[in-house]
Amino acid sequence: MCGIVGFCSNKEDGVDASTILLDCLSKLEYRGYDSAGIAVLNDGDLLIRKAKGRLSNLINLVEKQPVEGFVGIGHTRWATHGEPSDINSHPHTDVSNDIAVVHNGIIENHVKLRAWLEKHNVKFRSETDTECIAHLIDFHYNGDLLLAVTEALKRLEGSYAIAVVCKSEPNSIVVARKDCPLIIGRSEKYNLLASDVTPLLEYTREVQYIDDNQIAKITPTSVDIYDVEGSKIDVEITHVDWDMQSAQKNGFEHFMLKEIFEQPYAIEQTFKARVYAGKLDLGDITEAVKKAKRVVIVGCGTAYHAGVIARYAIEHYARIPVEVDVASEFRYRDPIIFEDDLCLVISQSGETADTLQAMRIFKKKGAKIIAITNVVGSTVSRESDYVMYTQAGPEIAVASTKAFTTQLMCVYLLTCALIKDETKAKELMAELETLSTKSQLIIDRQKEIQRFAARQFNKPKVFYFGRQSDFAISLESALKLKEINYTHSEAFAAGELKHGPIALLDEDTLVVATCCNKTLYDKMDSNIKEVKARGAKVLAITYENNKEFDTVADTVFHIPETDAYLSPILSVIVTQLYAYYCSVNRGNDPDHPRNLAKSVTVE
Ligand code: AGP
Repeated sequence: MCGIVGFCSNKEDGVDASTILLDCLSKLEYRGYDSAGIAVLNDGDLLIRKAKGRLSNLINLVEKQPVEGFVGIGHTRWATHGEPSDINSHPHTDVSNDIAVVHNGIIENHVKLRAWLEKHNVKFRSETDTECIAHLIDFHYNGDLLLAVTEALKRLEGSYAIAVVCKSEPNSIVVARKDCPLIIGRSEKYNLLASDVTPLLEYTREVQYIDDNQIAKITPTSVDIYDVEGSKIDVEITHVDWDMQSAQKNGFEHFMLKEIFEQPYAIEQTFKARVYAGKLDLGDITEAVKKAKRVVIVGCGTAYHAGVIARYAIEHYARIPVEVDVASEFRYRDPIIFEDDLCLVISQSGETADTLQAMRIFKKKGAKIIAITNVVGSTVSRESDYVMYTQAGPEIAVASTKAFTTQLMCVYLLTCALIKDETKAKELMAELETLSTKSQLIIDRQKEIQRFAARQFNKPKVFYFGRQSDFAISLESALKLKEINYTHSEAFAAGELKHGPIALLDEDTLVVATCCNKTLYDKMDSNIKEVKARGAKVLAITYENNKEFDTVADTVFHIPETDAYLSPILSVIVTQLYAYYCSVNRGNDPDHPRNLAKSVTVE
């Protein structure tokens, strides 16, 4: 989704703003975008360059038409209002091109604002909601940009992270946020801003997380942060541990492949962060967990799937009822939440708009919230009562892989804490400890999956089915293939086959049958036979010692044996690799799938 960046330095230091802005934008590419632009202040001038399409188009444009200067803002746009085009790209300016704005979010009352501004003789150039902001700031501008932005924000409804520059104030950037992420990077000689921490890592590790309804004035040597009333507030400077290496490809062709390969390490790190000498230590979460009468889980996409898997595991092992919903449904369905519910919010980025709103409902109802997130300092981590961090490191590819398997490790650790019987909990923990090594064994055999994908990447229909946790992981497997291979793929509970999906089967169909629950092997055997009888090809994923499906399925991929409820953390690696190699075979770019954004910060 849209990304904003900014850079503010002194002329004497001679650091070219456009170089830094373009570099920072390149680090936001993974979020998904369809155009990009920058605005640079230069000796009383405001220079703007924008280009539809890939960032390389903008880089070429800046090479041909350089923009020299030491202060500037930049943007990658993911179109919401108006098609991707040069005109609709950000930055947007006021009528006299004195003020430039970049914006992430949606201004919900933009139609009304547009009509009102047009009555005041404003001529709009783009179809965007953002352009209103530039004109409104201009309307309120009276020699003080901070004040003008503060006043303009009072008229906005919706969500935003904005960065604003003005010709008459050549040494500063004003930023503000409501429901969209915004981070300021602090350094001695310059300051920066970005929608997430990744672009800042090259330049600084000291950051300030701006909260909703805060406005900041950034100069090369200072950052002053205010609330909407104009009172100054102190915002702690946080040190970020992530290193640049983990945000680079390190010889892998794509981030996605690198991140798939990093899973054994990430799973191990997530386990070790909470288990010392065989003992589980969830810190202050332990108390909250003890009181839980029911667990309610929300998330979107892959994070929601981690929640579905958690439901099977928690209900089976801890015998506590679990409710799980996609955040976008949950927030509008008038949910019943009790104060003694334990609410679990799962989000890799910690910035997903629907997930944040669902979390705020939990808060209003007085329930305790545990966040499972990958991003330190994200909104989810700051607004929840407790946080379990996934130790995945930066996940750059849009399609989530290592963030998902580490989310699973977190929910399994929580499950251990919820189990009343200590021996049972210990047994489960012992099995959890083996999962990193077992996941490595699958990755070591990735060539087999690569070969299978080379034969099967062009199937027009791919269905995934299974029972219980195998059904839950089928949801995630189907999503991966949709996201990066653009294949029509669906997941369903194998028992539902005869209730409808069977009508879709024919010779063009590939069915991936995940069979990691021994008690249900016979049922899956029948389902596979039913599928085969309709001409579909079948890939079965099952344990290494199980030969039961060898004669029934067309291809069998064997994975190391584990408990049925933990098996998704292993079986998913097979389907991640399958989706990845299908995408590469098709000539797609798995890191930048069409229409998708990494961090969905608007509804
Ligand atoms: C995963 O492959 C997807 N890109 C998507 O479903 C993602 O999981 C979802 O948007 C939620 O994101 P979050 O974990 O950052 O909240």
